[in-house]
Amino acid sequence: MSPRLRVVLVFLASLVLACATGCRRRYVVHKQDPAVREGRALFLRYCALCHGKEAQGYAADHANALGNADFLAVAGPEFLRAAITDGHPGTPMSAWGKAHGGPLGPGEVDQIVAYLRSLAKKPLIKSDPTKRGSGDPRRGAIAYAKSCPLCHGIHGEGTNRATSLAHPNFLRTVSDEYLRITIVHGRVGTEMPGFNSFSSQTLDDLVAYLRTLDAPPTPPPSPLYEPPPGLDRLVINPQGQKPVFTLREGRYVSSAQVAQALADKRKLVILDARPTSDWSRNHIVGALPFPFYDIEEMAKVLPKDGTFILAYCACPHAASGHVVDELRRRKFPATAVIDEGIGFWTLKGYPVAQAAQLKIP
Ligand code: HEC
Ligand code: HEC
Repeated sequence: MSPRLRVVLVFLASLVLACATGCRRRYVVHKQDPAVREGRALFLRYCALCHGKEAQGYAADHANALGNADFLAVAGPEFLRAAITDGHPGTPMSAWGKAHGGPLGPGEVDQIVAYLRSLAKKPLIKSDPTKRGSGDPRRGAIAYAKSCPLCHGIHGEGTNRATSLAHPNFLRTVSDEYLRITIVHGRVGTEMPGFNSFSSQTLDDLVAYLRTLDAPPTPPPSPLYEPPPGLDRLVINPQGQKPVFTLREGRYVSSAQVAQALADKRKLVILDARPTSDWSRNHIVGALPFPFYDIEEMAKVLPKDGTFILAYCACPHAASGHVVDELRRRKFPATAVIDEGIGFWTLKGYPVAQAAQLKIP
């Protein structure tokens, strides 16, 4: 055998071996439990855009590492189920449950939970989310101000580096122990450091302080209520003139230009790329619910006659960017991503609406 052939053969053999160990492990898990297999498929469709194909996190923005060993050591099925169903409205994490107008029934949420739990590498530390410690929130506030705002924001509202800590849906379902363990050990493999030099008292104080952050998400400032639009209302201002936009990088249009085009009654289509639960809560006036994961079906109804089609989300570019990529792949001639997302749009006081039937929780 020539030395060269030998090298090739050894290389091939090592590939086969690596796959036999790596691939088999994955394959066996999925084969054993159909819920896990289904859950993974759902995860790829709905969640991977932000949380990553392998649940490694940070595919878009600050969507955390759901497959992280330290996260799954404290995040049990109940916690995950609630987070997925109810989401963190007001952040890029939508309410995915059908109860809120999202796409997932309880069975599907359970399958995703089964998939995520199958990634756990450490035993789950069970804890009671209703039990409260006896820390001093005032001392906790001082400790927080010293070590945490850089990533989690001054009031725990989250930043583009780390998740929020103040969302009521998080604080309602998280246990004191989950918080304490996360602060002491951190999350290895993410930016969350372990604060293992903190005294037991400081940890209690910090947890007590985090509990005080629980503020309801600001309700969208919406005097306007719209029913889900039918196909007859696909195009905004159908009689209007075409808008003229200057695009950044051939792709992004500023909110200011879009607001001006709406005020000038220009002809447009605006797509809300988030799950419909988010559209219901707060959307740009006249925008269609057009969830990024339904692109196959939805693209069929859009006009291909050169009408400008814009997409936005909260992320600010992940879901809307995906929609515009897909539309461009399908040769829609005039498309763009609204640059700053719905949060900025709302903050600027540009026109927004919510669903007519919305039950504010
Ligand atoms: C558009 C981006 C995006 C998509 C799509 C998305 N998430 Fe999230 N998710 C986030 C962000 C951002 C956070 C952190 C929210 C915060 O700061 O409060 C989050 C938080 C979470 C949390 C809570 C984690 C914690 O530690 O509190 C879970 C669980 C979760 N997501 C699961 C999912 C699942 C399952 C799906 C699919 C059904 C999904 N997410 C889809 C962006 C997304
Ligand atoms: C250098 C940035 C950084 C600093 C500083 C930091 N964190 Fe974090 N923290 C993170 C990131 C990133 C995550 C999410 C990691 C993941 O799971 O993907 C996180 C997660 C958490 C979580 C879990 C949130 C959840 O939804 O599960 C808690 C609780 C937390 N941090 C508390 C704190 C506290 C309290 C401090 C200050 C003592 C602090 N962090 C300082 C980056 C930071």
